Amino acid sequence: MQLYLDTANLDEIREAASWGILSGVTTNPTLIAREKGADFKQTISEIAELVNGPISAETISLDAPGMINEGLEYAQWHPNVIIKVPSTTEGLKAVYELAKRDIRTNVTLCFNAAQALMAARAGAFIISPFVGRVDDTGVDGMQLIREIATIYRQDRAITTLILSASIRHPRHIIDSALAGADIATCPFKVLQQAMRHPLTDRGIEQFLADWKSRT
Ligand code: E4P
Repeated sequence: MQLYLDTANLDEIREAASWGILSGVTTNPTLIAREKGADFKQTISEIAELVNGPISAETISLDAPGMINEGLEYAQWHPNVIIKVPSTTEGLKAVYELAKRDIRTNVTLCFNAAQALMAARAGAFIISPFVGRVDDTGVDGMQLIREIATIYRQDRAITTLILSASIRHPRHIIDSALAGADIATCPFKVLQQAMRHPLTDRGIEQFLADWKSRT
């Protein structure tokens, strides 16, 4: 399973990229808005220079013609830009039309496996089920990843990648991989948490203390 960073913060992206673990980046309008004063096109272009992999940029139109126009524009910014559209019937139309022009899409805000199946049929490059937001409703979000993985793997014609989104903690990363996700997109904080373990810290302290006390 590949790891993407779910942020528009260039410092976080630079740092995680230096760890050698990043295969891509996802952004959304909320994450872009969090970077006060940053220009959208400039931000996406700079991310694409930092990470050599798919960079998702989300459309804000609600109708297919609007999404397609935005997608055609974003696709010119960098060959690695992936056009994010919502899981709606207008989104499906945009996926279908953009795919005809070899423009890759990420169908976001997916909350059931039927949406995922339809996105794949329309030609989505990536489907983004929101695990954490499903968990918030009291339903097991990881079950959504399992269902989509089972449905996709039953059909060889489907090549859409399953991107586990709305990741809230390191356990989500592990369970996404076990459930059959191709990618997990994670907040920077969760990637940091995932590499932390008290026994690792204690082990380092012990090794250093022993090293200093050697005779
Ligand atoms: C994915 O592409 C989304 O940007 C993201 O994972 C949403 O996560 P949230 O539920 O923490 O906002």
